[in-house]
Amino acid sequence: MKLYIDTANVAHIKEIAALGILSGVTTNPTLIAKEGRDFKTVIAEITELVDGPISGEVIALDAEGMVREGRDIAAIHPNLVVKIPMTPAGLQAVHVLSQENIKTNVTLVFSASQALFAAKAGATYVSPFIGRLDDAGQDGVQLVADIRMILDQYDLPTEIISASIRHPQHIAQSALAGAHIATIPYAVFQKAFKHPLTDQGIEAFLTDWKNVFGA
Ligand code: G3P
Repeated sequence: MKLYIDTANVAHIKEIAALGILSGVTTNPTLIAKEGRDFKTVIAEITELVDGPISGEVIALDAEGMVREGRDIAAIHPNLVVKIPMTPAGLQAVHVLSQENIKTNVTLVFSASQALFAAKAGATYVSPFIGRLDDAGQDGVQLVADIRMILDQYDLPTEIISASIRHPQHIAQSALAGAHIATIPYAVFQKAFKHPLTDQGIEAFLTDWKNVFGA
């Protein structure tokens, strides 16, 4: 499973990219707005930091508008992926853009049927929002597993981006459920690096060393 970071914060992307574990970046309008910076400037900066798929989302809700914005986003850099919400208009836009070899990421997916529709329309990626499903009392990780089974059963080339990841367990659970990619917020990366036994182990090793060899 590949790891993406789910943010538009350039400093955070730089920090995680330096670890050599990052394959791509996803953004959404909320994350771009949080940075308060021009969309195209931020996206262009991200392309300098990560050589992998970078999702930028359309704002339009009509198919024609989404296609127009999608072409614009794709023109920023060859690594750009156009993120499109899971609506009938969105599927229409995905269908048009995929015929132009523009990569798409269908977002706000909350059911296996939605994921199947997106895949049939030609989506490169589908993004089930597992944290938001858990919040609503459903099983987000199970949805990832269901989508993976459908994609494999029908030989559909669409890849799953496990999104709306809220805690470290969601990362391993997504991998076990067969997500091709997990897109992880910076704060969750920070939590997932740590384990109290790792910290205790380092401390004990250093103490033992110092007791014999000095500082
Ligand atoms: O990638 C989707 C993600 O940005 C949504 O996360 O935490 O707002 O549900 P969240």
